[in-house]
Amino acid sequence: MEENLETIRKTLKKYSQEHLLNMYEKLDESKQKQLLEQIKNIDFELINSLYNNTKKELEISHEEITPIEFLDKEKLNGYYKGFQETGEKAIRAGKLAAVTMAGGQGTRLGHNGPKGTFDIGLESHKSLFEILSDSLKEQGRKYDVIIPWFIMTSEENNKETIEFFAKHRYFGYEKDKNIFFFKQGELPMVDTEGKILIREDGLIKEAADGHGGIYEALVKNGMTKKMRELGVEWIFIGGVDNCLVKMVDPILMGIAIQKQVTAAGKSVVKANPQEKVGVFCKKNGRPSVVEYTEIPEEMAQATDERGELIYGESHILCNLFNINAVERMGNKPLPYHSAFKKATYIDKNGNKVIPDGPNAYKFEAFLFDAFGELDDMAILRVKREEEFAPVKNASGIDSPETARELYRKFYQV
Ligand code: UD1
Repeated sequence: MEENLETIRKTLKKYSQEHLLNMYEKLDESKQKQLLEQIKNIDFELINSLYNNTKKELEISHEEITPIEFLDKEKLNGYYKGFQETGEKAIRAGKLAAVTMAGGQGTRLGHNGPKGTFDIGLESHKSLFEILSDSLKEQGRKYDVIIPWFIMTSEENNKETIEFFAKHRYFGYEKDKNIFFFKQGELPMVDTEGKILIREDGLIKEAADGHGGIYEALVKNGMTKKMRELGVEWIFIGGVDNCLVKMVDPILMGIAIQKQVTAAGKSVVKANPQEKVGVFCKKNGRPSVVEYTEIPEEMAQATDERGELIYGESHILCNLFNINAVERMGNKPLPYHSAFKKATYIDKNGNKVIPDGPNAYKFEAFLFDAFGELDDMAILRVKREEEFAPVKNASGIDSPETARELYRKFYQV
C-alpha cells in the first residue's frame, strides 16, 4: 500500500493534482482503497489536454458542410413493400437488438432518480421505461420474437435502475437472458484551473462521459459479444426520453440491408430554425450531425426554393447500426466536448464549495461524432407525430405535457 501510495503521489505531482490526496488520511480503509483505484484509472494526459482545449478559442471549422440525402418514409411508393419484407425477415430471424441510453437523471424534470423511472402523468402512471418496454414487447409479438433489450446506465443510476426493473419484474423480460444492463464510462470533472474536483465524501467527482461512450461501453462490457451469441446483426440505439421511440422498424432495417450501409438514422422535419435538435448533414462528404449548440445562425435559417430548411432533417437519437460498425467504433476514441456546469466540491483547504453558477468542466462524447467513421449512412425521414415525443423540460416545449398529448393521440388512449 505504502509503495503504491508513493507512486501515486509522484504521478499526482507530475500533473499538479496533489490535492487529490488531501483528505486521504481522514478516509476509512475502504474509501482509501476506492480513491487510489479511482486515481489509478485516470488518464491524466487526456484530462490535461481536455482542460487545455477549454481555453482555446473555438476553432473555425474548415470542414465542408453540405446537406445530406434522405428517403421520405411517406414517399417510398413502390419500394416500401420490398424494404418492409427484407426488414421483417431479418427481425423474425432474431437479428435485431434494442439499446436504450438511460445514463441520465431526471434532474431537468424535477425528478429525483433515473430519467427512465419518470412518470409522464398518463392515467396508467407508466414510467418511461414501461412505455418503452410495452412498445418493444408489442413489436416483438408482431414478429414472433423477443427483441433483446440492452439498457445503458451510469455509475450514478445503475443500482437504482436495476432495482426499479426488479421491482417491476423486468416488465416481463428475463434478466441476463433477454434484458441486460451495462454501465457507461465516467471522466473526472475539473475546475477552471484544471484541478480535478473532490466530492464531499473525499472521492473524486466524476461525471458520465456522454452517450458517445456507448460504443466502447457495449464492447468493453461484453454486450456485443452477448449479442453475437444471440445471433444479432443489427443494433437499434435510442434515447430513454422519447415516448414514441420506435425501436423495431422493418422499413429502416430493410433500407439498411438493401442499401448495404453500416448505419441508418431517422429524422423528422425540424419544426423551426431554433428547435433544440441536432441536424443531419455531410461533413467533407461523410455523414454527420451538427448539434443545436454549434449550428451557425445562417445555416440554421437557410431555406431552399420551396421554402424548406436546407438543414432540416432533425436527428432524433433513433439510429440503427450494423454490429460490425459498433465494434469498430468501440475500439476508437471519440473527441470530447466540454460543458461548463455547476458542481459542489471540497476545495484544497477542505472547505465545501457550493457555487451560484457554473464553475467546473464536464467532458462528454457524442454518439454522432462516430458517424463520420461509418462508410455510409441512410437517412429515413419519418413523421414527428408518430415517432418523436421527447420529455426534456419540466414545462413548455418537450415537456411531460406535450409528450402526453402526442402519446395519447398516437395510441388513442
Ligand atoms: C439530444 C441530441 C440531439 C437530438 C436530441 C433529440 C446530444 C448531444 N444531442 O439532445 O442531437 O436532436 O437529443 O431529442 O445527444 N444520455 C446518456 N448518457 C449521457 C448523456 C445522455 O445515457 O452521458 C442519454 C439520456 O438519458 C437521453 C439521451 O442520451 O436518453 C439524450 O441526452 P440529452 O442530454 O437529453 O440530449 P439533448 O440535449 O436533449
